[in-house]
Amino acid sequence: MRLYFITGADAIHQIMSWKEPERLLSLCDFVAVTRPGYQKNQMFEEIGEIQEKYASRIHYMEVPALAISSSDIRTRAQRGMPIQYLLPQEVEDYIHKFGLYQNERKDEVKFMLPIEVMQEKLQSALSVKRYIHTMGVSEEAVRLAEIYGTQADRQKAKVAGLLHDCAKDYPKELRQRFCKEYKVKMDDILEQQPDLIHPFLGAEVAKREYKIKDEDILNAIRYHTTGRAGMSVLEKIVFIADYIEPNREQFEGLDEARRLAYLDLDMAMRFILEQTIEFVKERGRLLHPLSLEALEYYKNR
Ligand SMILES: [Fe+2]
Ligand SMILES: [Fe+2]
Repeated sequence: MRLYFITGADAIHQIMSWKEPERLLSLCDFVAVTRPGYQKNQMFEEIGEIQEKYASRIHYMEVPALAISSSDIRTRAQRGMPIQYLLPQEVEDYIHKFGLYQNERKDEVKFMLPIEVMQEKLQSALSVKRYIHTMGVSEEAVRLAEIYGTQADRQKAKVAGLLHDCAKDYPKELRQRFCKEYKVKMDDILEQQPDLIHPFLGAEVAKREYKIKDEDILNAIRYHTTGRAGMSVLEKIVFIADYIEPNREQFEGLDEARRLAYLDLDMAMRFILEQTIEFVKERGRLLHPLSLEALEYYKNR
C-alpha cells in the first residue's frame, strides 16, 4: 500500500524545515496541490531540487478552485476571525469547542519594532565582529529556549540575544552621556571597570531605543555578564548563549560549557560562573558582587 500526503503546493517549499524531512519523504508520496495564482514554475524548480536530493516522489495536481489554505484557517482561528465555510461545520465546532490554536495566540510576543528594524539599528551600532557574535548569541539562545522554554521564550530569547550587547560598542563619550541621560546607577566597580557597564546600559538602551517593554528581556540583557542569584530561564539562556555561541573561538572550558548547557541550565550556570570568576581573578580585575552571589546560589542548586 502506498501512502499519499496531499498538501498545498506552498507547503512543499517548507518540507525541508519539517522534522526529519528525509524520513517523511521516504514514508509517503507527496501530492502538491496548487491554488489559483500560484507560481507553478517556481514550484517545479523546488520539486526538482527535492526530488534530486531525496529521490522522493512528489506529484503535482492542479485544482483551480481550491483557494482555502489550512495555515490561513489556523491564523484566522488564532486571531478570532470567522472560519465559517472554509471547512466542514463539524471541524469548526471542534476547533471552537477545544479552543484549538488559541494557545499560540496567547503565547505570541509583540514587539514595537520589527526584528528586522532592530537588526538594522544594531548593524549601525556595532562592529562587524560584534554583530556576528550577536547573531550567534541570538541563534544559540533560541536553540536553548526550544529545549527549556515556551514558544514565548523562543521569541524573547531571539530578541534578548540580539540586543544583549547593544550598548557595548559605544564610544566613551556616548556611553557616559547615555549613562547620565538614562540614569544608569553607577557604583565603585562600574566606575573602575567600564567593561561591566554595557549590560546595565544595554537594558536601558533596549527599553528606550529598541522599545522593549518586557521586563524579562530587559533583565536578561542587564544580567548577561554578571549573572545574579535566582535568574529566570530566559536570563540563564542569554547568559549561557553569550558564552557558548557558535562563533566563539575555541577556549578552555568552551566544550564543557556547551555540553552542560544542553544537559542542565543550572549546572551550566555554575560552571560558567566559576570559569569567569577564575578568569577575572587571574587578570587582577574586579569582581562584581552579583557574580559572587550568583555562584553561591548555583553552587547550592
Ligand atoms: Fe556582553
Ligand atoms: Fe556578548
